[in-house]
Amino acid sequence: MAQGGDWQRDVLRQLGQHGTPDEAAGPAPASAEPTAPLRLTYPAQEPPADAGGAAAPGFPQRSDPAPPSDPAVRASRRPRLPLHTPESVPTVDPRLAHALGRPQHGDSVTRRTGRTLRKLTASATQEVAEETRIARELQHPVTTGRVIAVTSIRGGVGKSTVSALLGRTFNHYRHDPVLTLEADAALGTLPVRMGAESVRWSCADLAQILTPAMQLTDVTGYLVPVTDGGWLLPASQGRVGAPMDVRTYRTVTLALRRYFAVTVVDCETLPGEVARTAMDTAHARVVVAPMTAEGVNGTRQVLDWLAQLPHSALAGTVVALSANSPDATLDEKTAAAHLRETGVTVVRLPYDRHLAQGGPIRTAMLGRAARDATVRLAAEAMRLAARVR
Ligand SMILES: Nc1ncnc2c1ncn2[C@@H]1O[C@H](COP(=O)(O)OP(=O)(O)OP(=O)(O)O)[C@@H](O)[C@H]1O
Ligand SMILES: [Mg+2]
Repeated sequence: MAQGGDWQRDVLRQLGQHGTPDEAAGPAPASAEPTAPLRLTYPAQEPPADAGGAAAPGFPQRSDPAPPSDPAVRASRRPRLPLHTPESVPTVDPRLAHALGRPQHGDSVTRRTGRTLRKLTASATQEVAEETRIARELQHPVTTGRVIAVTSIRGGVGKSTVSALLGRTFNHYRHDPVLTLEADAALGTLPVRMGAESVRWSCADLAQILTPAMQLTDVTGYLVPVTDGGWLLPASQGRVGAPMDVRTYRTVTLALRRYFAVTVVDCETLPGEVARTAMDTAHARVVVAPMTAEGVNGTRQVLDWLAQLPHSALAGTVVALSANSPDATLDEKTAAAHLRETGVTVVRLPYDRHLAQGGPIRTAMLGRAARDATVRLAAEAMRLAARVR
């Protein structure tokens, strides 16, 4: 476990004794005009959009040159050496990897063709205005790292899927560093969903390695680079092992938020202790609710619990109402209305063939409705996270 030095005490002081983020951030910066091409769609193979105004001063730009390689400076930044270097482990057994099959597009060919034809006749003004608003939220500058925790009341409802979608979306729109962190050691699927072929260092390793003198370039040596940009920190090497403890979670998130403008945390299921800590200390929360009566009912109970927390956690919460099956019969409007009674925003994430396949998520393969829902969800989560002073 990492020794809690002054640097961590400083961050802890920022966070307040109970780790609430409310005092954590400096003054909220004025929102900058987005300069990126304001498309809600993900280009197939392009690099991230040129979002010049997206980053705040405190975070390095991805285009910044590497820091000087003075040996004395490098020595002072040297991480604490772990007792052993873990081996690199494939995220999917190579004997199974070939069985993943070809990725399917979320929309059928007929649907894609129909949409193109409709687009030629539709008035684009309203759509562009909405895209501009969403891009502005996604690119909101921040002066201190924002943590967005994703959890749910049940397992298997889409937490890792939503976390991967959010991590990729923030990374696409922002020019400051974005981390997607797995805080669920129960053989989570986040590394696979993020397209990582292998993992080596885990949260527990980083808790021992991180030192205050390390710079972003030192830290990223222990993270998995994500294909389209951004970074991933897995909870484990995909083996059955010890669950993550709260101390590890706090050590790692407190340390890493110095380097990353946005950290998306894929949490375990509530009411696990790490999930509760993550919910309590995050700047914004995404609760994933399955599109079933019992799932919506349980999620409503979570929202009622959040409403009772001392620092109005509900105000920083958005619900992703996710349909994991094409056969869901629950009336979406009634379900969303039941959750909205608590005052939260509800974003409906529809069933998507590409997401249903499992395996790595390729955002260019998402159906239009799932893609639009994803950016709306990400924009709302960022709006909530950035609003905290
Ligand atoms: N919007 C969606 N459309 C279609 N299928 C989906 C969608 N969201 C999730 N799924 C399906 O549900 C499965 C489980 O999702 P995921 O692994 O994200 O859940 P989880 O809550 O992280 O599970 P766990 O509790 O085990 O960590 C996915 O592999 C995928 O097949
Ligand atoms: Mg998961």
